[in-house]
Amino acid sequence: MQTRAIILAAGRGTRMKSKKAKVLHELCGLPMIQHVINNVKEAGFDEVHAVIGPGSDDVSDYLGDSVKKTVQEERLGTAHAVNQLSDLLADEEGNTLVICGDTPLISSHTIQNLLEFHNERKSLATILSAEADVPTGYGRIVRNYDGSVKRIVEEKDATSEIRELHEISTGTFIFDNETLFKALDKVTNDNAQNEYYLPDAVNILFREHKLIDAYETMEFEETLGINDRVALSQAESLLREQINIRHMQNGVTLIDPKNTYIDAGVKIGMDTIIYPGVVLSGNTIIGENVTITSSSHITDSEIEEDAVIKQSVITGSKVGRGTNVGPFAQLRPGSKLGEEVKIGNFVEVKKSELESEAKVSHLSYIGDAHIGARANIGCGAITVNYDGKNKHKTEVGKDSFIGCNSNLVAPVKVGERSFIAAGSTVTDKVPDDSLAIARNRQTTKEGYYKN
Ligand code: UD1
Ligand code: CA
Repeated sequence: MQTRAIILAAGRGTRMKSKKAKVLHELCGLPMIQHVINNVKEAGFDEVHAVIGPGSDDVSDYLGDSVKKTVQEERLGTAHAVNQLSDLLADEEGNTLVICGDTPLISSHTIQNLLEFHNERKSLATILSAEADVPTGYGRIVRNYDGSVKRIVEEKDATSEIRELHEISTGTFIFDNETLFKALDKVTNDNAQNEYYLPDAVNILFREHKLIDAYETMEFEETLGINDRVALSQAESLLREQINIRHMQNGVTLIDPKNTYIDAGVKIGMDTIIYPGVVLSGNTIIGENVTITSSSHITDSEIEEDAVIKQSVITGSKVGRGTNVGPFAQLRPGSKLGEEVKIGNFVEVKKSELESEAKVSHLSYIGDAHIGARANIGCGAITVNYDGKNKHKTEVGKDSFIGCNSNLVAPVKVGERSFIAAGSTVTDKVPDDSLAIARNRQTTKEGYYKN
């Protein structure tokens, strides 16, 4: 049967108090609308529509072609938002899932259960409901004496008696598509907020004696609607817990999962150990048997097996098998470390490639450089890559030895198996198998103190 999903994302999100559209606020590294899209697609809905607000270029740009976009020119309520798709969809057959862009935790599993329930009951509209300890802010489900669904009442329109009810509408529905659009035409804005409410489409169907129902999920926490930053942080912590449990179940040791921050898109191999306070962001991939100690922050990077990362910041970089980084090192975007490389304390690497077994053990800056295999960069040696206008490249050949506190003034090339004396400022090419000394000889003035 033909199915489609409509994600409502045109609301202003006033309660977020933000210049950014609500649905672009991130949870575990992904905008909340992306979580909704992922969940809906995982549940098997391939045709996904999003209703976005007027002037929401940021949302539109973010979504690109990943979903079909429709603009709701005036924000007149959730029913009005769905009705913007009337020209496109009103005559289509099959089921339509409607879900809010601000309920990112409703899992694909729950959506599938809702759809199955809807199909089994041959219902024309099924509400996803949940029992809430604190139902404040949500629409309430009112049931008849026989337990069948009677109507949904928005909190702002509810009497104190109805406010006592704890079964809430999650804002997610499955409708028979043609029935939905016929009902939407009859929704009015005669309510406390003068809005066209989507829940009213369900109320209209009840009045027309159509078969409507509610599927109550036991996973109340999933149904959290994010209207403000407090809910955003609650949702983030729930999602983080799920992500961390998944990694632990897959064989990753998290010493203190409550204090480990792993984005939704991160992959981690077995037997990796992660210490408290580690942040793994974006599309980071961590191999097997890696150790990452406290306060490391790794973003959009790949760390291969057996690597050890201690208290370091790594962004947009690749770290090879068995390589050691840190403590207190920074790998900036475009850095690529081979296997068994050593990057020690207070070393910064930017847009540079270091081949296998190269060592930069202490207090160095390596920028725009290529360092050959087994080369040793002494303590305090730096690449002088910037002349105030342009960046230049430094090359160090394999098996070379750069003495402590050297400056390699780029563009410059040090050949293979060459030595640079400590304290040199190298400005000219050094051929293979050579020693370059580029500093003044020491002058010692004996008895100087007495004069
Ligand atoms: C809504 C539901 C409520 C439900 C709750 C669940 C209505 C009237 N209320 O309340 O029954 O318990 O969600 O979280 O449906 N939107 C538009 N266009 C509009 C207005 C809203 O696209 O004109 C979008 C918003 O971007 C949001 C969603 O619809 O993603 C829900 O709107 P919101 O204002 O958050 O409704 P709630 O008050 O949370
Ligand atoms: Ca909401």
